[in-house]
Amino acid sequence: MSDEAKRSAAEAAVKLVQDGMSIGIGTGSTAEHFIRLLGARVADGLSVSGVPTSDRSAELCNQLGITLTNLDDTPVLDMAVDGADEFDGALNLIKGGGGALLREKIVAGAAKRFVVIADASKQVDVLGRFPLPLEIISMARQPLSRRLTDMGADVTLRLAADGAPFRTDENHWILDCAFGPTIAKPAELSQTLSSWPGVVEHGLFCAMTERVLLGSNDGVRTITL
Ligand code: A5P
Repeated sequence: MSDEAKRSAAEAAVKLVQDGMSIGIGTGSTAEHFIRLLGARVADGLSVSGVPTSDRSAELCNQLGITLTNLDDTPVLDMAVDGADEFDGALNLIKGGGGALLREKIVAGAAKRFVVIADASKQVDVLGRFPLPLEIISMARQPLSRRLTDMGADVTLRLAADGAPFRTDENHWILDCAFGPTIAKPAELSQTLSSWPGVVEHGLFCAMTERVLLGSNDGVRTITL
């Protein structure tokens, strides 16, 4: 999928930003377009404050002069904008391909509106083609892997480039769980996973998304429920 489609979606999201807003700022290649475009508007005089969902998004915001805040000082955000790895017809998402799902979910949950920016490669009928990331406490790796395998998932511990376990910004591990395109009931699976000891967070975002801005080379389509 072309980078242009991601950029178009990000452009549409930046148009939703108004002066004085507090914005949750996502992570990933699509969110990076949003950050760069937001930075351009800030350079033109727009006044916003942002809560970033990862250290790397925070760094980019700092480079671009976007004022950052946090959820202690700004517990309710006007809007959050982020990418997704998959979204279905009910606007349920899989997120966490970039490993930032925990902060992403906290920030999206703190926002009055959660706007997803995506290209057509992210649109699916049924979630699960993309392996579902689970952020976990390292001690729970084997018990959780067994439970997930029993549910039919193919479980892989995410590794960093040096071969060591990948560490999230909150210093946890990630299990990537390939369910195949078979997460028929995401809300149920979400509740089940959240109830398991050792799961810090999972990448299913159910009933959180207000709209998806779906970018293509021909423009942007807004998908709402
Ligand atoms: C980061 O942890 C993810 O949730 C991203 O939002 C997701 O992986 C989408 O990333 P891209 O925009 O790079 O596809």
